[in-house]
Amino acid sequence: MNENTPVLPRRSAVAGTVAVCGLAAGCARYGGPTAPPPPDAGDGGGGGETGTGSAQAPSGEVLGAAADIPVGGGKVFKDQEIVVVQPVEGEFKGFSAVCTHQGCLVNAVADGTINCDCHGSKFAVADGAVTAGPAPEPLGEQQVSVTPDGQIVLGEAPPAETTEAPAQEETTEAPPPGLASTGDIPVGGGKIFADEEVVITQPTAGEFRAFSAVCTHQGCMVTKITGGTINCECHGSKFAVADGGVTAGPASKPLPERTVRVTGDQISLT
Ligand code: FES
Ligand code: FES
Repeated sequence: MNENTPVLPRRSAVAGTVAVCGLAAGCARYGGPTAPPPPDAGDGGGGGETGTGSAQAPSGEVLGAAADIPVGGGKVFKDQEIVVVQPVEGEFKGFSAVCTHQGCLVNAVADGTINCDCHGSKFAVADGAVTAGPAPEPLGEQQVSVTPDGQIVLGEAPPAETTEAPAQEETTEAPPPGLASTGDIPVGGGKIFADEEVVITQPTAGEFRAFSAVCTHQGCMVTKITGGTINCECHGSKFAVADGGVTAGPASKPLPERTVRVTGDQISLT
């Protein structure tokens, strides 16, 4: 192509009218948020004018892998008319790939410049500034970002996919296996749990009580529950299923009460 070649006005309808994301917004760092604005944004001439940008490409579009962008160089994404550069390791910038001379697409990035072969314009990788004419203005910046997984995307990187832990199912906590099932305890009677040294009684339907199974006479384990009493066969002491009170000696003190919790049909000690 030469001066006489009709130039396809790539996005030229909007060139010069679309505000670019600004020199500040055009760069991104690996794995991090958009980098702060470079201090020398105005270098290269014409930087104060924001009318040289290309049309805004759809934000969020993935351009390619950050790993494919050479440090000190860049890569032209023709379809998106974006050139992505990596002036220093880990710092990525995007520029419009539309040459500010006559709207050709820049076609190469080499030796620190972004090159337009139509008429030889060159732009600095660092900031898109003109390093060789006839282009009169720097390339417009385009915001690019790097996703946490190393992809260059147009605009802001989409928020990291929140791999939200699946909502904890509101499982009504299964009651811990109890010491006994309510069905195990006869109404008006009870059951002795020797290992736990406890006796559970059900004096009236649905009322559960628990007592120490250790006889208060001389410490034998009670052995039977009959006739509404908890019985110690060592010397014949008896205790009421209702409250553990002594109904027959020689024990003189009631069985100490234990507290129980009934969850569903499970009875457990507390
Ligand atoms: S269009 Fe002329 S140098 Fe790029
Ligand atoms: S130890 Fe129970 S009656 Fe003596």
